[in-house]
Amino acid sequence: MVYFTLEPKRRRDDFYDMEDGLNDFVNSLGRFRFIIVEGLRRYGKTSLILTGLNVANVRYLFLDCRLLSSAKASFDNLLSMIEVEVSRNSWAKKLIKGMDYFEVGGVIRFKFRRPDVLLDIFENLGDTIVVFDEVQELRNLKFRFDGFLAYALDHFDVRIVVSGSEAGLLNKFLRIEDPEAPLYGRPYKLIELKPLTRDAAIDFLKKGFEQEGLDVGDELISEVVENFNGIIGWLTYFGYNYVRGLRSMNSIIDAAINMVLAEVEHFLETRGVGRGRYSEALKTISSMGRCSWSEVKRRLEAKLGRIPDTTLANILRSLMDYGLIVKVDGEYMITDPILRRAVIRI
Ligand SMILES: Nc1ncnc2c1ncn2[C@@H]1O[C@H](COP(=O)(O)OP(=O)(O)OP(=O)(O)O)[C@@H](O)[C@H]1O
Ligand SMILES: [Mg+2]
Repeated sequence: MVYFTLEPKRRRDDFYDMEDGLNDFVNSLGRFRFIIVEGLRRYGKTSLILTGLNVANVRYLFLDCRLLSSAKASFDNLLSMIEVEVSRNSWAKKLIKGMDYFEVGGVIRFKFRRPDVLLDIFENLGDTIVVFDEVQELRNLKFRFDGFLAYALDHFDVRIVVSGSEAGLLNKFLRIEDPEAPLYGRPYKLIELKPLTRDAAIDFLKKGFEQEGLDVGDELISEVVENFNGIIGWLTYFGYNYVRGLRSMNSIIDAAINMVLAEVEHFLETRGVGRGRYSEALKTISSMGRCSWSEVKRRLEAKLGRIPDTTLANILRSLMDYGLIVKVDGEYMITDPILRRAVIRI
């Protein structure tokens, strides 16, 4: 049993289960052909999926769509990713053996690089679970993923699990609530991951340190939860570093902030000339704690001059879509305490 490792968990023993989330996922695999796992960064989506699939003992292909996040990613790259994953699993290779492909160094390669090949693959896979982790990262492909998924669910036995850390994009991208969109009206199971409660976070840390044979005392544990809240990825990150000898709270927080800074920078780079407004909006919301629409507008305009309502609406919408801010009771806020601190440094 080890909680404090940085990779996504795969084994039930290493998986801390709050409120039976694992069983819920495993049971859903038997009852739904389409499962959506939603949660902000580091809430434990990938761990839940991988551990659940192993517990359920089913055949699955796991596609990490973050590998396709670049603006230059193409349908061809998606197909290559599937080829690699099929090649790694001898059962999958057997299932597609009637298709037109050749093999180079143990990796299969389909002769034709078109969406209909993807349909053939899915048809041949039969009752296999295909996971698209961080599915919103496929948004840059010139390929109608929602239409593809709807077709596959209608015509084949395949089961689909998608995860996303950018809640808005999940809806925007899959458009499950849009009556005009292909996936509309299909039964699906939504699993929304939440941070650990304070008690669960304390319990998780205590058990994690116990596994490592370290007696750290209640004070340190409270301090960790103060700084990292119930975000399981951060609690794990702290435990991992502490166990390996990094005993200063501030250094671990600093390292965490730097990780997040790189992620925020990446987001801002994609904003082009709008960068200044986005970073100012983030800073305003971070420094205020909670902030209403008009408050953000007032403060932003005081710094940057007039901003039309539609522009501000777009900025706030994108920040929400990317999971950087959330809206609670009509107010905007940053829930991740590390992100909140990172933003001040941009
Ligand atoms: N239930 C759990 N029990 C123990 N450790 C966990 C659990 N869930 C997540 N972790 C740990 O937290 C970290 C983040 O987990 P994971 O990668 O699964 O989250 P994620 O939501 O997929 O994150 P990301 O947004 O970065 O993809 C990892 O170090 C993982 O080992
Ligand atoms: Mg993940």
